[in-house]
Amino acid sequence: MTALLLNGKELAAKKREQLKKDVEHLTTKNVVPGLAVILVGEDPASQTYVKAKQKACEQAGIHSVLIKKSDTITEEELLAEIELLNQDKSIDGILVQLPIPKHISEQAVIEKIAPEKDVDGFHPINIGKMMTGEDTFLPCTPYGVVEMLKEAEIDLVGKHVVVVGRSNIVGKPVGQLLLNEHATVTYCHSRTKNLREMTNLADILIVAIGRPNFINAEDVKPGAVVVDVGINRVDGKLCGDVDFDSVKEKASYLTPVPGGVGPMTITMLLENTVQSARKRL
Ligand SMILES: NC(=O)c1ccc[n+]([C@@H]2O[C@H](COP(=O)([O-])OP(=O)(O)OC[C@H]3O[C@@H](n4cnc5c(N)ncnc54)[C@H](OP(=O)(O)O)[C@@H]3O)[C@@H](O)[C@H]2O)c1
Repeated sequence: MTALLLNGKELAAKKREQLKKDVEHLTTKNVVPGLAVILVGEDPASQTYVKAKQKACEQAGIHSVLIKKSDTITEEELLAEIELLNQDKSIDGILVQLPIPKHISEQAVIEKIAPEKDVDGFHPINIGKMMTGEDTFLPCTPYGVVEMLKEAEIDLVGKHVVVVGRSNIVGKPVGQLLLNEHATVTYCHSRTKNLREMTNLADILIVAIGRPNFINAEDVKPGAVVVDVGINRVDGKLCGDVDFDSVKEKASYLTPVPGGVGPMTITMLLENTVQSARKRL
């Protein structure tokens, strides 16, 4: 069996075309969606991510504001900056690029963002709403994963989903969203015993651990759907957490890296920003 590709790049392009039209429509009603990104410090990976987000906003017609702060900023100063954006009527979404320097509490920052502008979907209120299945901003990477599975018309009801990784931004919420879609969800992590036995039970295997090519064909049930969230750089080349070449011979569907989940993440951020702007109408 050779797996069909779950092509995130194509789906992201399609969604961004639609978003552009939605933004044009909002703009005719004098609502220009606005996203503010706060970048603290000079971390090169964060700079790259922020640039990509700004470019995507520009292409979609979303007004984007980048606020750069030195890594000597105090927590109080950063919280005050967020408060200004909370009050700013031209801003629909606020995002603080993580990680932030260790002397600032990440949780305090996340909780300072007004829940109705929390387009990353990390605020405890929005996480709570996601858990109870209420309409809210969904965290972008997990949201993108679910959109990819739906686009490929992969039946989720009653399927056994195994999520490897339990971070707050990927593992935990992706499992929750798939539970909301009526899948049966098992979480695995670094303390899981017999990981291979667990992953072999998966109809749908989601891997988000940050270990290059960690999951190989022996970890996968024949015909499983495999979603690789990992982004790792090895010898200057990007690869996922799944060994693509071996797993593609065993899975029914597989996401490539790059070109899989990655492009969907920013797209869902744009989607959340536009959703927030619509509420201004
Ligand atoms: N495509 C995208 O847009 C996107 C977005 C976000 C992240 N990512 C990528 O996704 C990957 C995961 O990101 P993250 O932020 O979720 O990472 P993270 O916060 O470092 O969490 C990693 C998770 O993997 C688990 N883990 C680590 N080694 C393991 C092992 N050997 N066996 C089983 N579980 C193991 C950890 O378990 P413990 O909890 O027990 O420590 C933890 O739950 C990274 O490569 C990241 O770059 C991609």
